[in-house]
Amino acid sequence: GTTLGASAAEKGRYFGAAIAAGRLSDSTYVSILNREFNSVTAENEMKWDATEPSQGNFTFSNGDRIANHAISRGMKIRGHALLWHQQQPSWAQNMSGSALRNAAINHVTRVASYYRGKIHSWDVVNEAFADGTSGARRDSNLQRTGNDWIEAAFRAARAADPGAKLCYNDYNTDGINAKSTAIYNMVRDFKSRGVPIDCVGLQSHLTNGPPSDYRANIQRFADLGVDVQITELDISGSSQASGYASVVNACLAVARCTGITVWGIRDSDSWRTGQNPLLFDASGNKKAAYTSTLNALNAG
Ligand code: G3I
Repeated sequence: GTTLGASAAEKGRYFGAAIAAGRLSDSTYVSILNREFNSVTAENEMKWDATEPSQGNFTFSNGDRIANHAISRGMKIRGHALLWHQQQPSWAQNMSGSALRNAAINHVTRVASYYRGKIHSWDVVNEAFADGTSGARRDSNLQRTGNDWIEAAFRAARAADPGAKLCYNDYNTDGINAKSTAIYNMVRDFKSRGVPIDCVGLQSHLTNGPPSDYRANIQRFADLGVDVQITELDISGSSQASGYASVVNACLAVARCTGITVWGIRDSDSWRTGQNPLLFDASGNKKAAYTSTLNALNAG
């Protein structure tokens, strides 16, 4: 293929980008999006603070701008993210106990129901495990409602949109470490008890490239019977171009690694200000990292 999306499709994968509704009026941005990508993730517009700014009042206008663009161009949509300890509306930040649990599950039900049939994969729960070596859940208002909040969210999401793949998504889980192993154990437990989960998202915010056991980590999740998606890829550092190729090679090596999403289009669109971690420069020109990514998708 001659584009990221077409080349990934030849390998049975998608290649997506996180996009911002506010940039859909930027013609350079949109022309790259439409040419190169066949999947999108809303960078912020489908999060809790954006979709339920006051309790029970749902606003989908910016999420819909992204969804409608994707649908009109035949792109897949990754839904991001139903529950997360960050970017909660202030009313939820101030809640606890059963009131918060009920509000959170209602949020999952309402948002997943609104987008039913349109979302390829939902990040049902984002970043619920602690950093470091504890393997523990992250302390948060959601976690304090009870350890079963994650499975309750996945069950509610399945009921609301039975056709969407339901993912658990996290960062610093790219290699085999205490955090990724804790998630592995959760997924294994969910599969054994029939809690609905279909995929694990490895965010892959990287420096230079993936860890040496990236492919082995992808494989061990796949062996549990879930898909793996690379959900928020960006790579800073001098080995960026070869790092992108390594990520693509690892994903292509595992049949259940079904797609890759980069977290923005141009370096100037990235949350990693000044690190230039993406595939296009601020003017929209293809970087060396773009070429190595495309070549890796087309190899083999
Ligand atoms: O929209 C407001 C704007 O009205 C206001 O004037 C401005 C002033 O600060 O803020 C704007 O909101 C910002 C929003 O991005 C949209 O640009 C928020 O402050 C800012 O915090 C927010 O950052 C987002 C971040 O998540 C929040 O945690 C980034 O764009 C987004 O790329 C980032 O994405 C996360 C994933 O969801 C989860 N994984 C990690 C990843 C990177 O942090």
